[in-house]
Amino acid sequence: MSAEELYEVIRRRRDVRAEFTGAPVDEATLLRILDAAHRAPSVGNSQPWDFIVIQDPATLRKFADHVAEKRAEFHRSLPPDRAATFDPIKIEGITESGTGVVVTYRHDRGGPHILGRATIPETGVYSAVLAIQNLWLAATAEHIGVGWVSFYDPAFLADLVAAPTDIHLVAWLCVGPVHEFQQLPDLERFGWRTGRPLADAVHRETFGG
Ligand SMILES: Cc1cc2nc3c(=O)[nH]c(=O)nc-3n(C[C@H](O)[C@H](O)[C@H](O)COP(=O)(O)O)c2cc1C
Repeated sequence: MSAEELYEVIRRRRDVRAEFTGAPVDEATLLRILDAAHRAPSVGNSQPWDFIVIQDPATLRKFADHVAEKRAEFHRSLPPDRAATFDPIKIEGITESGTGVVVTYRHDRGGPHILGRATIPETGVYSAVLAIQNLWLAATAEHIGVGWVSFYDPAFLADLVAAPTDIHLVAWLCVGPVHEFQQLPDLERFGWRTGRPLADAVHRETFGG
């Protein structure tokens, strides 16, 4: 694969909500995407993630109903102008995608002496997030959409997937075939927030330099 092909996948990747076809991701593709996630770098090679694949329509429905409540709560917290901008924005595709992948983090995975985590405990969760990014890019290359849903109460999700208390839930990812990838992030298209230029994010020698 050329560098240009990789950059093209990075450019094409979108957070997907409304573009799922409704067909389920096929098992071989799902396993390739999960394999890509499992190849992510991790602090001390601890591989602290697990992936819970959820395809039972009743479970997807339960989670979608819970997320709808959280969306309504957020809507009520907004001033009228922001609420009006938020109105048309879809924030999940839980049932339409047909597959949820819950990515979890376990702090004790890899034993007590994790090389590189001693002074920065968050490096464990950073590692799980890198697995998510690998999954997201691999899915994009396979023309499979991914949408990260974070409108939930972690205790509700822990109960839904029977996660023990020492398991940290990092993300619910909606995963499924799409009919297209949008060119722009939804939040930009709907006027919620535009991105900032690279030049504003790059500093030389000191922060702000
Ligand atoms: C940690 C995290 C949580 C997110 N949670 C949600 C969410 O609950 N609902 C949603 O619609 N998008 C969610 N997103 C997607 C972002 O809104 C999206 O990545 C951003 O607007 C940029 O769009 P793009 O990913 O298409 O480039 C989340 C993204 C991240 C990284």
